Amino acid sequence: MAFDIEMIKETYSRMKDRVDAAKEVVGRPLTHSEKILYNHLWDGKATESYVRGKSYVDFAPDRIACQDATAQMALLQFMQAGKDKVAVPTTVHCDHLIQAKIGADKDLQNAINQSSEVFNFLESVSNKYGIGFWKPGAGIIHQVVLENYAFPGGMMIGTDSHTVNAGGLGMVAIGVGGADAVDVMAGMAWELKFPKLIGVKLTGKLSGWTAPKDVILKVADILTVKGGTGAIVEYFGEGATSMSCTGKGTICNMGAEIGATTSTFGYDESMERYLRATDRDDVADEANKYKDYLTADPEVYANPEKYFDELIEINLDELLPHLNGPFTPDLGTPVGEMTKKATENGWPLDVEWGLIGSCTNSSYEDLSRAASVAKQAVDKGLVTKAEFGINPGSEQVRFTAERDGLLQIFEDLDARIFTNACGPCIGQWDRKGADEKKKNTIVHSFNRNFAKRADGNPNTHAFVGSPELVAAIAISGRLDFNPLTDTIKNKNGEEVKLDEPTGFELPPKGFDVEDPGYQAPMVDGSGVEVVVKDDSNRLQLLTPFKPLGDKIEGAKLLIKAFGKCTTDHISMAGPWLRFRGHLDNISDNCLIGAVNAFNKETNKVKSQLTGEYGPVPATQRAYKAEGIKTVVVGDHNYGEGSSREHAAMEPRHLGVAAVIVKSFARIHETNLKKQGMLGLTFANEADYDLIQEDDTFNFLDLDKFAPDTPLTIEVVHADGSKDEIKVNHTYNENQIKWYKAGSALNLIAAENA
Ligand code: F3S
Repeated sequence: MAFDIEMIKETYSRMKDRVDAAKEVVGRPLTHSEKILYNHLWDGKATESYVRGKSYVDFAPDRIACQDATAQMALLQFMQAGKDKVAVPTTVHCDHLIQAKIGADKDLQNAINQSSEVFNFLESVSNKYGIGFWKPGAGIIHQVVLENYAFPGGMMIGTDSHTVNAGGLGMVAIGVGGADAVDVMAGMAWELKFPKLIGVKLTGKLSGWTAPKDVILKVADILTVKGGTGAIVEYFGEGATSMSCTGKGTICNMGAEIGATTSTFGYDESMERYLRATDRDDVADEANKYKDYLTADPEVYANPEKYFDELIEINLDELLPHLNGPFTPDLGTPVGEMTKKATENGWPLDVEWGLIGSCTNSSYEDLSRAASVAKQAVDKGLVTKAEFGINPGSEQVRFTAERDGLLQIFEDLDARIFTNACGPCIGQWDRKGADEKKKNTIVHSFNRNFAKRADGNPNTHAFVGSPELVAAIAISGRLDFNPLTDTIKNKNGEEVKLDEPTGFELPPKGFDVEDPGYQAPMVDGSGVEVVVKDDSNRLQLLTPFKPLGDKIEGAKLLIKAFGKCTTDHISMAGPWLRFRGHLDNISDNCLIGAVNAFNKETNKVKSQLTGEYGPVPATQRAYKAEGIKTVVVGDHNYGEGSSREHAAMEPRHLGVAAVIVKSFARIHETNLKKQGMLGLTFANEADYDLIQEDDTFNFLDLDKFAPDTPLTIEVVHADGSKDEIKVNHTYNENQIKWYKAGSALNLIAAENA
């Protein structure tokens, strides 16, 4: 339908040359990840061996994918770049702006009614600039990408952190901020620090209740939410080749939850089967010609400890089903240990909802395995205790699952079949009673479970598991239900056991769909008019940011954030999603979820202008009105979570000059740089403790801003005492130019003028 076989052929045809050259330069066999990276160098053949975790390298990705929430700001920025068409095949997917409430038909129509202005904007910009457009209801971006665009050995970027899902089809696919996507759309190189490599050797084979999801839940438990930072995770071994392509997608998808740059698998027969099943024989035929180049050299997997920076081994024969959570995806509990852990921690054991779907687990295989469990509830006379909600991943999956009777099985349990969209996964869930903020437990097959993420209720304890485990737990209504050992009482008072799930890797009768929901762009879109009304609440044309300059003095502390501060804390999702294309309106959520280190409250900071406490956005707007710059201070892994550049653009728009933290999540750090701000880390972590509520910051040597050179800041406290602290940064020459120009986009526009 929409993939570009010529582009894929081009990528493959140069591969031998470039990979061989890279091997020569690097002087050893290469991993699969390295082959892809070296085949996508912006400057062509490798002339040097890049240092993992150190070298900044320019790449030329094959594709770009954007979802509707992030595409708005990305395309508003692209419109400023002065180009006629996107330089690289790009697609836009409408999946985030659809709320789950009643069921697919009504919810989709409501979303269209509420967001038609945004959908029309995205459609017209897509038409104008040669971008493929996937309409609301067509599916979740990463499932649609896997079905249509991902290809072994390819490189893709996407304005969503779960772009990494495409690693399931052997890609290096990386989530970026909209500003990075704009660079590539405008025909520029895309810069990335050459990643480190973590190898995960999968021995044994999945069986019974254990699913691909359990592999990544285990990896998350081992590596934690920071463990993959700056690294590509490459999976290999008999356990890898024996699982399905969509299962691999699930594993790669949740690589975002360990902070990994991306995850990938070498090309194998499961990928070939998936390509053929999704109507891409030509891609499979091409890939088969280059098999050796689409996976690591044999020596690498034979002696992985020599070639990866870190190596993990998981025996799938011994792996138990896991539930990870609550509130963080790296807190793993194997089934069988939950009663003890939940009791110790006060997690409610009664489960109210089981949600199946999201980009993580919404393939045909996922639905079929969960349905095989659900069917047993009917067949064995069980009464389902929790409510069920299902989000199919794409119209193709939904249509096929409906045809094959899978959806009917869930409907027989009174499940709500929501739109083929993100829904509860992104807080787009109008859950009845959520505003009562009752302590409760839900289980889902999604990827993230931060507080408030699904339903806005901070007391909802969300646990992540495989679709089949979610189905079993929803039926039993117990968080500590262990399907391997436990029984459930049926209507007749008999204790029954659920059989192991069964399913289909691919639909036995093939995929089918009537209207996949795709709209190709006009060949010549120059006449298309893009409308953004002046009084729009949802969309706002951008005004270039002014450079912050090389003298920042008298900057005030806006907030010292305590503990976890994700992009959800910095720029909340849920109801705020509707303002993703309107920078000034969405800035009213700036940092409202961050915990103030001085009073441990959210959205309550002291204004140094009045001495009063007030909401973060209003306090910051008052500083801006007075022309006073501000500083945000944060803890470890600041900005973890999603790729949304709003988390950088909002503080920038409101006048924050610098964010100083113990450590950054990669995408957020880059986003701050792109928006022309200072993203800095304490050279001495303990200096975080020096920062007081009434502090003023003077940057002493910003006029000498240079790569690999720490900056010095004088921190003046309320009593007049001073501390001089050193802060590190990772800006290279070019990124310093972004800072000096006011933003990366200002630099692009100047070059295109
Ligand atoms: Fe959507 Fe949730 Fe995936 S928001 S893209 S389904 S992580």
